Amino acid sequence: MFIHKNKRVLVGVTGGIAAYKSPELVRRLKDRGCDVRVVMSEGAKAFITPLTLQAVSGNKVHEELLDEEAELGMGHIELARWAEQIVIAPATANFIAKLAAGRADDLLSTLVLATSAEIAVAPAMNQQMWQHPSTAENLSLLQDRGVRVIGPGSGDQACGEVGPGRMTDPTEIATLLAGEALARPLVGKRVLITAGPTWEAMDPVRGITNHSSGKMGFALAEAALDCGAEVTLVSGPVHLETPAGATRIDVRSAQNMLEAVLENVNSADYFVAVAAVADYRPINVAEQKIKKTDESDEMTIRLVKNPDILATVGAMPNRPYCIGFAAETENQIAHARAKLTRKNVDIIAANNVAGDEGAFGSDQNAVTLIHHNGEIEIPTNDKYAVAISMWRHILKLANSA
Ligand SMILES: Cc1cc2nc3c(=O)[nH]c(=O)nc-3n(C[C@H](O)[C@H](O)[C@H](O)COP(=O)(O)O)c2cc1C
Repeated sequence: MFIHKNKRVLVGVTGGIAAYKSPELVRRLKDRGCDVRVVMSEGAKAFITPLTLQAVSGNKVHEELLDEEAELGMGHIELARWAEQIVIAPATANFIAKLAAGRADDLLSTLVLATSAEIAVAPAMNQQMWQHPSTAENLSLLQDRGVRVIGPGSGDQACGEVGPGRMTDPTEIATLLAGEALARPLVGKRVLITAGPTWEAMDPVRGITNHSSGKMGFALAEAALDCGAEVTLVSGPVHLETPAGATRIDVRSAQNMLEAVLENVNSADYFVAVAAVADYRPINVAEQKIKKTDESDEMTIRLVKNPDILATVGAMPNRPYCIGFAAETENQIAHARAKLTRKNVDIIAANNVAGDEGAFGSDQNAVTLIHHNGEIEIPTNDKYAVAISMWRHILKLANSA
């Protein structure tokens, strides 16, 4: 249902007229954040040059099986292991027959036997070839073995005939492979997210802050955008690029953050409070830099409680669906469950920020979603993947609420 960023996709191109559409497929997969490598059959090179596919994929095209130089680089087994998804587009009748027979007489067919990746074929051929019982039986055998068959479509063919056998449109293949829903689940929804730390000034040059990098909040914003949402991102001081399409509001203190949230929360369908908001701030903010004195070795800063942004939104009468984060160094599940009730929200994402393995600053995270009827573990992954997984669960829980 969702886009899978950084998916390693190996595109196999075989010798059919539709090979001219393969560069388009490579581009559409790259648009979706996939890392793409191309393998061509000998026949494919009669229809399209490796140079074209190298240019669009950004990687050297793999052509030969028995190639000493290639084996010294990314050899055939390494390539088979690298791929998370193999898609053969176009897949000729000949190549489909080779796969069904389990042959390994060229690089692409060998890779298909040597991989544990998911395999998809997008057949493209003359309508008579498509309707031939051999082709039908071969495809049925491949499907029984778990190979995904995409298309073909029907219509005018390059050979002048009309009928089934046209390769499915490259954008549609990319969409299906990347796992992206044609109807994105957050289209028409507004998402308000807070991210990063806050900065509570003591004087013009010093303040109290924390290690939050903002990466998890930004990943949730990016994932929400990819799911079709309109996103407003209220961010504390961070060094991160704004996800394309998000409306970003930069703030410093918890009070500034609360103001920005209150201005935007009424139109939000989902409120995700990821920011690590300071619980306290200095009561007095000195107008000038505080000087060191000789009178005492000690200095006291008096603090006052900050507003609780999540609890404020949780208490609103027509509040959006609310998701908070609990960054804890101990007893995270128990603390998170207490926070769920205390702040009157729908989900608390508990993450452990203790020690070197903690989530702050890291590109990876693991969270437990605590909701009113249970808990959902989201295992360690890069923050975007965790964000995508979170949205999948959030939507399920929100729709069943
Ligand atoms: C001009 C031309 C176009 C072809 N188009 C197709 C095609 O669209 N689909 C197909 O299955 N075979 C097509 N073929 C036949 C394949 O090129 C042939 O079966 C070849 O052995 C395929 O090799 P490969 O599967 O290793 O790439 C075509 C052949 C020619 C000469």
